[in-house]
Amino acid sequence: MSIALIILAAGKGTRMNSDLPKVLHHVAGAPLLVHAMKSAAELEPEKTIVVAGHGAEQVSAAATAFDENAHVVLQTEQLGTAHAVAQAKEALSDFNGDAIVLYGDTPFISPETLVRMIEARKKYAVVVLGFEANDPGRYGRLVMAGDSLSKIVEFKDASDKERAITLCNSGVICADASVLFDLIDAVGNDNASGEYYLTDIVEIAQAKGLSATSVTCDESETLGVNSRVQLAESDAIFQAKARLALMESGVTLSAPDTVYLSHDTYIGPDTIVEPNVVFGPEVTVENGAHIRAFSHLEGCHVSRGAVVGPYARLRPGTELAEFTRVGNFVEIKNAVIDEGAKVNHLSYIGDAHVGARANIGAGTITCNYDGVMKHQTEIGADSFIGSNTLLVAPVSVGANAMTASGTVVTKNVPDEALAIARSKQENKPGLAVKLFDMLKKKKASKAKGAE
Ligand code: UD1
Ligand code: CA
Repeated sequence: MSIALIILAAGKGTRMNSDLPKVLHHVAGAPLLVHAMKSAAELEPEKTIVVAGHGAEQVSAAATAFDENAHVVLQTEQLGTAHAVAQAKEALSDFNGDAIVLYGDTPFISPETLVRMIEARKKYAVVVLGFEANDPGRYGRLVMAGDSLSKIVEFKDASDKERAITLCNSGVICADASVLFDLIDAVGNDNASGEYYLTDIVEIAQAKGLSATSVTCDESETLGVNSRVQLAESDAIFQAKARLALMESGVTLSAPDTVYLSHDTYIGPDTIVEPNVVFGPEVTVENGAHIRAFSHLEGCHVSRGAVVGPYARLRPGTELAEFTRVGNFVEIKNAVIDEGAKVNHLSYIGDAHVGARANIGAGTITCNYDGVMKHQTEIGADSFIGSNTLLVAPVSVGANAMTASGTVVTKNVPDEALAIARSKQENKPGLAVKLFDMLKKKKASKAKGAE
């Protein structure tokens, strides 16, 4: 069975109080819209239609960044959910199969739930995803007659008896695409909101002799985001699930509640993650690594046996090979650190390649930016970079080479050479004692004057 997704993402999200369209607000490092698209992508849809309106350009960019084949259609006026779905009709004119309607602001519907809906479609023309709500509030209510769904009634239009129903509408609907668009054609806007309700298609289907039913899922899946508070709640739900999944897969989180993960964080078994570590997007950590407390990682790869932190910052393009060491207050950006190399203290390594087993002394800085352009630094295998070396890029240090502490390296250093570039030291015999005496006398005469 071919599947088409129709993802509604035209709404403004007034309660977010934001210039950014609601569906582009992030949970775990990805827009809400991408979460919805990502879980539905597991169904391998033939077509994905995103209905955009408010901030359509930005929404379109985010949708196609995730899936270059996503087709974005415009709903210029938000006249209701049925009207929104109708905007996808033209884009699906050649499509034969089931359409699934999802909301871009509802990030956690699981692929398994969608599969159960597709299964239910074998027996019913229209399948609606419902949930037992703890607090049904203003959700639409599902009116069931046995296994059959008679209608969906919006809260505003519901009688007291209908408002007492706790089985609520998630908004996710599945039907044959051409049936769906036929039903939508019959939807009017004579209701409390004056909107074209997608939910009306159930009653219309029943009147036409088409069957409808509901499939239910846990309320945590249907959580929609309408405010910053709900955004934070969604993130918390995501984090809790993702931490649990990591621990079950063999990762040690010594203080799980303090570790922040992204939607795509991968960490291999037997890696230990200490408290207060933040994983931004696009981080992969292999087995048996150790990420120590208060480290911040994004866009990087950490290999087996590497130790990172405490207080390390790995920025995009960082590649740590096996058994490397990156210690406290070290920032690395767009750099490859080869096997067994060490950058243990207070350094900035950017746009660089550090050879195997090299030792980068405390306070080393790659001066990669000349104010206009970025330049590369090469550091050879088994080299020793003395403390407080400045490497003014573009520059290279050969294999088995050394730099003296405090050296400003502006010329390439050949293999096996020692580079030293600092002013020569002079020792003045006995001068320290003379200076001490002079200073102590000064202090004493000052104290006398103050009496
Ligand atoms: C809708 C359902 C309600 C359900 C609830 C679940 C209808 C009529 N009601 O109500 O039964 O319990 O969701 O959260 O469907 N959208 C557009 N274009 C529009 C209107 C909406 O793209 O013209 C998008 C919104 O951006 C949003 C989604 O559709 O992502 C739902 O719209 P919203 O207005 O929030 O519907 P609810 O009133 O919450
Ligand atoms: Ca809503």
